[in-house]
Amino acid sequence: MIFPVEPLLDLQGLEKSFGGTRVLKGISLSVGQGEFLTLLGPSGCGKTTTLRIIAGFETADQGRVFLSGKDITQVPPYRRDIHTVFQHYALFPHYNVFDNVAFGLRLRKMNEGEIRDRVLSSLDLVRLRELEGRRPGQLSGGQMQRVALARALAGRPPLLLLDEPLGALDLKLRKEMQLELKHIQRRLGISFIYVTHDQEEAMTMSDRVAVFNAGRIEQLGAPQDIYENPETAFVADFIGAANILSAEVLSSVGDFLKIKIEGSVETEVPKQNGWGGAQGAVQLALRPERVVVSADRGQAPESGWLHIKGALAETVYLGNSRQVILRATGREKNIVSSMSAEAFASLGAEVSGAALAKFRIKDLVLLKNPEKEA
Ligand SMILES: Nc1ncnc2c1ncn2[C@@H]1O[C@H](COP(=O)(O)OP(=O)(O)O)[C@@H](O)[C@H]1O
Ligand SMILES: [Mg+2]
Repeated sequence: MIFPVEPLLDLQGLEKSFGGTRVLKGISLSVGQGEFLTLLGPSGCGKTTTLRIIAGFETADQGRVFLSGKDITQVPPYRRDIHTVFQHYALFPHYNVFDNVAFGLRLRKMNEGEIRDRVLSSLDLVRLRELEGRRPGQLSGGQMQRVALARALAGRPPLLLLDEPLGALDLKLRKEMQLELKHIQRRLGISFIYVTHDQEEAMTMSDRVAVFNAGRIEQLGAPQDIYENPETAFVADFIGAANILSAEVLSSVGDFLKIKIEGSVETEVPKQNGWGGAQGAVQLALRPERVVVSADRGQAPESGWLHIKGALAETVYLGNSRQVILRATGREKNIVSSMSAEAFASLGAEVSGAALAKFRIKDLVLLKNPEKEA
């Protein structure tokens, strides 16, 4: 599905400052009906502030929030049809699981029969039905987070906000819960806006990811799109690590541009794929798994390939793969390669001296120049 199919939530130009520091610098975003959208970025980039403005706990200095086409910018949180799940689940310790989940429904004065149905079906969703009589103190962290989720889902809100909800769980449980959450979201067709600083989590769960950097959205797209076509060095490096190579556009020859990479390697790239307007100094991204390191025996590159000469600086053991770091000759530049254990083994000891980083021209991704600070 291409989102947003039908926008449920629409953010227009949100700006926010705290004590003179601009924390949000114009956030605009649409979230589709039934979409799983993730706000991804390093700590302090404005994800939680954006979520709090959507929920109504915080007001923006500028900009508007629309839900189902209605301007809710001034509507108080309890009148918005939006629920939030936080990292710290804030359950009532003296209530059992059932009563925790029922809490919001009782506030709404729903009748007890209906409440019972809703609570039990929500507990079924998170696979906690058999624990309905327990108190939070008798639950594990993962179970408590499931109760918090069941409580948020019990009201069947069209939009659920989740702020690093799995952040307190250990890795194995977090991975399980990621799949479970995604499954529940699909089943109910509720829109999720999910906040995380973990790129792998974002890639696993999301229909689309908005990559935040210092109060701006650097890129918004499907996980695969963001991974394969990062637009900026920040995105390329934040999502899955990348080599950022510097290059210079030398001239334009017919349908090709002549470029020089890292001051030494000259080649031609076709003007299609966004290269058309490139000129002067540019940056290129290259994924480590697209780089092969081999011994330098003075061999010429095969057609479509480029070589950067250097020396092996380090190898890092990563179980089923090796990270191999090559220091480019005469440059303050490391080129990182991710190789399978087999490919690395077949390299043998011969690369201890001069080595080559080999990669295909077509695997180079031209980056946009970083946006100047407004
Ligand atoms: N209530 C507040 N008062 C002052 N500064 C705040 C407040 N809330 C957030 N900030 C600051 O705004 C920036 C963005 O915070 P936040 O949205 O929580 O980032 P994230 O969730 O991406 O880690 C941070 O520098 C944070 O310290
Ligand atoms: Mg946060």
